[in-house]
Amino acid sequence: MSEIVLQIDGKEVVAVEGTSLLEAAQSIGIKIPTLCRNEKLKSYGACRICVVEAETGSRKRLVAACVYPVEKNMVVRTRSEKVDMTRKMLLEEMLAHAPDSEELKKLAEEYGADSGRFEKEPSFCILCGLCVRYCAEVKRKDAIGFIDRGAKREISFIPEIAAEECWACKECFPLCPTSALQAAYVLTEALAFPDLRPKQE
Ligand code: SF4
Ligand code: FES
Repeated sequence: MSEIVLQIDGKEVVAVEGTSLLEAAQSIGIKIPTLCRNEKLKSYGACRICVVEAETGSRKRLVAACVYPVEKNMVVRTRSEKVDMTRKMLLEEMLAHAPDSEELKKLAEEYGADSGRFEKEPSFCILCGLCVRYCAEVKRKDAIGFIDRGAKREISFIPEIAAEECWACKECFPLCPTSALQAAYVLTEALAFPDLRPKQE
């Protein structure tokens, strides 16, 4: 694989073809916020908080750093008025769903996001998909999935699988950026099917 030279925040970076902008930035110590990314999982590009400005020739655009690959001579800015404004907007939208998330509150402070900008619709979930993907890709159990589409989209445990598998696992709980309690709550509901629970020794 060939090596690609680009510039991130004024610093020259050499990265292997196929590397994401996020990984290239991290390799030289530049931090970009992420909410839906986990090193054990394939990048998914759901939350967009990792947005950066990428310029190639005369083309300048906002891209999600965790899924966008490095390009030759690309000039990347991880902080700019546009980037910060976009992150602020995204945080305000996410805070309407998960107003108590400590992770979101910390980012909101950094980007000056107003948690009261949008009407609260607490679902506690920002649909980052970490729990769903972890269960599928790492545990290979598919005990949790997305249901419905558009505004109705939400996560749901599959009771028959959850009742068998989740008791001894619960590894998805700490991954949730909004509240581990959300996952716990949904799991509890899923497990409210006593007949499906494995017998405790
Ligand atoms: S419950 Fe948490 S980890 Fe799962 S999709 Fe929602 S925000 Fe992400
Ligand atoms: S971390 Fe890149 S889209 Fe979520």
